Amino acid sequence: MRKITLAIDGYSACGKSSTAKAVAAELGYTYIDSGAMYRAVTLYFQQNHVSLTNKKEVENALNKIDITFQNNKDKGTDTFLNGLNVEGEIRKMYISENVSQISALESVREAMVAQQRKLGKKSGVVMDGRDIGTVVFPDAELKIFMVADIYVRAGRRQKELMEKGQLVDLAEIISNLEKRDKIDSSRAVSPLRKADDAVEVDSSFLTLEEQVDHIVRLALGKILEQ
Ligand code: DC
Repeated sequence: MRKITLAIDGYSACGKSSTAKAVAAELGYTYIDSGAMYRAVTLYFQQNHVSLTNKKEVENALNKIDITFQNNKDKGTDTFLNGLNVEGEIRKMYISENVSQISALESVREAMVAQQRKLGKKSGVVMDGRDIGTVVFPDAELKIFMVADIYVRAGRRQKELMEKGQLVDLAEIISNLEKRDKIDSSRAVSPLRKADDAVEVDSSFLTLEEQVDHIVRLALGKILEQ
């Protein structure tokens, strides 16, 4: 059976990653979390005090960053920055608070998009992010755009953080999500927007299983069309 490319975009904390991961597992495809790449860049910039207004400094830093992924024993994926497992660190609030500013930089986007295209060269990939259907893979056979109610999104994010031992106030999470939505959708370079040919999925009142089932059905439809 011919393999397709699936692009899953949408706002922060709409369940893109868990959905994309499960869809990839059902189809036997590779899952790539493009947001983890921007988070890893943010961590590197923070650790090395890279000045965002200094173009040369940003470019030099980007040349020193190597991001890879490895499956872990819990069937999840770990993100490695220059050989070091940073999966736990890049999910922390201080990274969430800075990632949108860093991912709005043109040179950062150029470097990440080039890597994402390389990773998705062979079909059979599910990639989630903000510009996958519009910029990274405009020819993806199936594009999903996920949305959800802000309170539902914040509640889910709070639960995720709690499971990792981080207690964060709901109001702080809502404010972070709203700020990131605004920066992500209004930036000059590849802003978050729904591709014209994307299917919108509102996950507010769907369980993970329902979301996955719906998208897998759409994918199977596309695969049979090939
Ligand atoms: O999916 P996430 O919340 O882990 O993504 C973190 C940030 O990275 C998000 O606020 C915007 C940015 N991002 C992006 O600009 N483009 C992508 N394709 C993926 C993420």
